Amino acid sequence: MVSQTLREARKYEETMEKCIGEAARPAFHLCPRVGWMNDPNGFSFYKGEYHLFYQYYPYDSVWNQMHWGHAVSRDLLHWTYLPAALAPDTAFDKDGCFSGSAVELPDGRQLLIYTGVVKEPLVDGSFREIQTQCIAVGDGRDYEKYSGNPVLDGESLPEGGSRSDFRDPRIWMEEDGTYRCVVGNCTENHDGRILLYESRDGLCWDFVSILAENKNRFGRMWECPDFFELDGKYVLLTSPQDMMPRGFEYHNGNGTLCLIGSYDRENHVFVQEQDQAIDYGIDFYAPQTVLAPDGRRIMIGWMQNWDTCNLRDTKHVWFGQMSLPRELSIKNGRLFQRPVRELDAMRGREVRYENVAFEGITRLPGVTGRRIDMELVLHVDESLQGERGLQKFAVRFAQDDVCHTAVSFRPHESLLKIDRKFSGSRRAFIHQRRSLVPVRDGKLKLRMILDRFSAEVFVNDGEQTLTLTFYTDQSAEGISFYSDGRAVMDVVKYDLC
Ligand code: FRU
Repeated sequence: MVSQTLREARKYEETMEKCIGEAARPAFHLCPRVGWMNDPNGFSFYKGEYHLFYQYYPYDSVWNQMHWGHAVSRDLLHWTYLPAALAPDTAFDKDGCFSGSAVELPDGRQLLIYTGVVKEPLVDGSFREIQTQCIAVGDGRDYEKYSGNPVLDGESLPEGGSRSDFRDPRIWMEEDGTYRCVVGNCTENHDGRILLYESRDGLCWDFVSILAENKNRFGRMWECPDFFELDGKYVLLTSPQDMMPRGFEYHNGNGTLCLIGSYDRENHVFVQEQDQAIDYGIDFYAPQTVLAPDGRRIMIGWMQNWDTCNLRDTKHVWFGQMSLPRELSIKNGRLFQRPVRELDAMRGREVRYENVAFEGITRLPGVTGRRIDMELVLHVDESLQGERGLQKFAVRFAQDDVCHTAVSFRPHESLLKIDRKFSGSRRAFIHQRRSLVPVRDGKLKLRMILDRFSAEVFVNDGEQTLTLTFYTDQSAEGISFYSDGRAVMDVVKYDLC
């Protein structure tokens, strides 16, 4: 039975999407059918297709009562919208269907587990949120909420757990056919932790352990956990709120955190060995992964950050995009990300230059565009030779007479910076971010993917990524290279079509 609330949302999105021209959306990054989008939810492979749900408010381009939007794809790049999957329409989720995940049941149905939010009035007239975990089961299009909801509530919390910060269940099936899920939570002092639960049927859940604890190291509440095995290690991804900066690794505000380590199966605890940011750019948060049928672990994130949502184009009746889906691997104790290989099939016209030596500003014929895949190798060792060795190198893109966005590198500091302050923004907030990047074998490698309103920079074959959005007029499609001192580079550029 489709509720009135969901029926209305479906009708609204179907009507309103017609007002959005194809060119007013990103070409191969998912944005909401209409209205607002945040976190990826229920990222899964089901009945021969990838399903991606998302935090969704169709009626406005700002966050409000959360629904789940829904889209499917065969190649992770071309998405087809399906009708909204969930609306806040029961006693357990009347104030929002927050983030969650999906798993296929043995009978072929798909189970969604998500956070139901209810606002509870307090004596002083204010409210506090109560968050519980709820279930809906369906066929890949329509989902019915489970009559036994919620399946996890305050009773399911270990001692001292906050009932207001208990969200974002991430479910998976173990080899023996039983289920596990991790849920974000914090203590009464707002210190983040990840809880592990188990279930035989996906409906009835038991608390297992506190899988990991923040202990006041990385921000406060930990949102949107994901936990999986990768290249012989265990990886815990989470998005902490209220981070404090640490060198160039973590920045203030909402951040992303990747913990790499092992899993102590006896005590059900994660044993951490390394920590790092997931993305070093401006707009990336709340990523979720899927295990593809061919064994790849693929991650997609919300290509925004709560602290930077003010940069927007008011012309658009949508807001929020997903990042490119990225293949994950671990090398030398670090998380590596590369754009899904499906992107290679979209590569069109190739333009190639080798050993371009220059100083000052240069442009390369054929190197332009706002939907491109560009690989750039800066020969740092060679560039540093001679009288006027390289001081600073920059690529400027989405450029016209007035605007550009830039990626720049200072070899003497090993700092890479992204900067969108000249992208056409009239607001004063975060427009830059810097990251410490190593030069490897005398080279700095940058792969840049541009798609109308965003740029994703993959550094040194995916050792680091920097992601940002911008809304420069689409006619600004120039690319130029700047060098203070001598630079030597190779450039290969493909149009993406
Ligand atoms: C993360 C988040 C989640 C929550 C959702 C609400 O971006 O805050 O913790 O479930 O967004 O839309």
